[in-house]
Amino acid sequence: MASSSGSMVSSLTSLRLSGKVALVTGGAGGIGEAIVRYFVAHGAKACVVDIQDNLGRRLCNELCVGSPDSAFYRHCNVTVEDEVRRAVDLNVDKFGKLDIMVNNAGKLDRPPVPDIRDVEFSAFNRILDVNIGGVFLGMKHAARAMIPSRRGSIVSLCSMSGLVGGVTPHAYTCSKHAVLGLTKNVAAELGQHGIRVNCVTPFAIPTHLSVFTDTDEVDEKALAGFHSLVESAANLKGVETGVEDVANAIVFLCSDEARYVSGTNLVLDGGFTAVNHSFRFFR
Ligand SMILES: NC(=O)c1ccc[n+]([C@@H]2O[C@H](COP(=O)([O-])OP(=O)(O)OC[C@H]3O[C@@H](n4cnc5c(N)ncnc54)[C@H](O)[C@@H]3O)[C@@H](O)[C@H]2O)c1
Repeated sequence: MASSSGSMVSSLTSLRLSGKVALVTGGAGGIGEAIVRYFVAHGAKACVVDIQDNLGRRLCNELCVGSPDSAFYRHCNVTVEDEVRRAVDLNVDKFGKLDIMVNNAGKLDRPPVPDIRDVEFSAFNRILDVNIGGVFLGMKHAARAMIPSRRGSIVSLCSMSGLVGGVTPHAYTCSKHAVLGLTKNVAAELGQHGIRVNCVTPFAIPTHLSVFTDTDEVDEKALAGFHSLVESAANLKGVETGVEDVANAIVFLCSDEARYVSGTNLVLDGGFTAVNHSFRFFR
């Protein structure tokens, strides 16, 4: 995954985030890693926070070889307010400001429990703690750093599960609907300070969250099953979406080209949530 987004990055021609400073939660792997790679390739400095310290450090060391001081890693569990506060403060101490906050860290209920009567309330809350509690804390502490400079861009990861029911377990679906609501509310509050607040909705992308096991090994059978499910469910055929689509959208939302975009959910699902295929009108 890293290599595919890495090769796309190397062909970039214009720097959209030159001089900007960003903090990316859950930036050590998956979609977050791609966002960090694209940010650095577009001229930003990135603070990567995660709970996977080895992966996060390895990524930042690699990025600093090509572009010294462009990325640094900080351990931060997004459900712990003090850790989020310190990560934001460290960023401001090191670079003097925070222009971009990406609330990417997220978890999916695993294994999925198909019967609500069997869902443990504690397990339900653990997903909400990360997926919406972590986003709330990221927004809160980013706002604290951004309000004095009267500018900033906050982007959070929503999901098609934030728009429709029946594609993921209850806690995840609930948390992503909440990300969308919080995005609109915080955009309403922070607009007066010149701060833009948006979210993005990716389609199904193969990462540890969606398909891989917790080891580094790729389960080829699971991956093939995932691709075939996605291909049959997708509205837009002939395009295999990936982490680079999400990273590109977030680069746009954090760039000056999106300077009047706030309170929006940029949906990257090839039309999936806009269409009801059950009537099969065009098929
Ligand atoms: N993969 C998809 O199909 C998909 C689709 C829509 C939305 N999303 C969203 O995109 C975001 C990234 O997902 P991904 O697919 O890259 O998953 P991933 O599991 O590959 O990466 C998630 C990252 O978040 C980190 N993380 C988890 N809990 C954390 C915590 N408490 N504090 C700090 N970091 C933590 C993990 O260590 C990991 O590096 C999530 O918010 C997810 O809900 C993913």
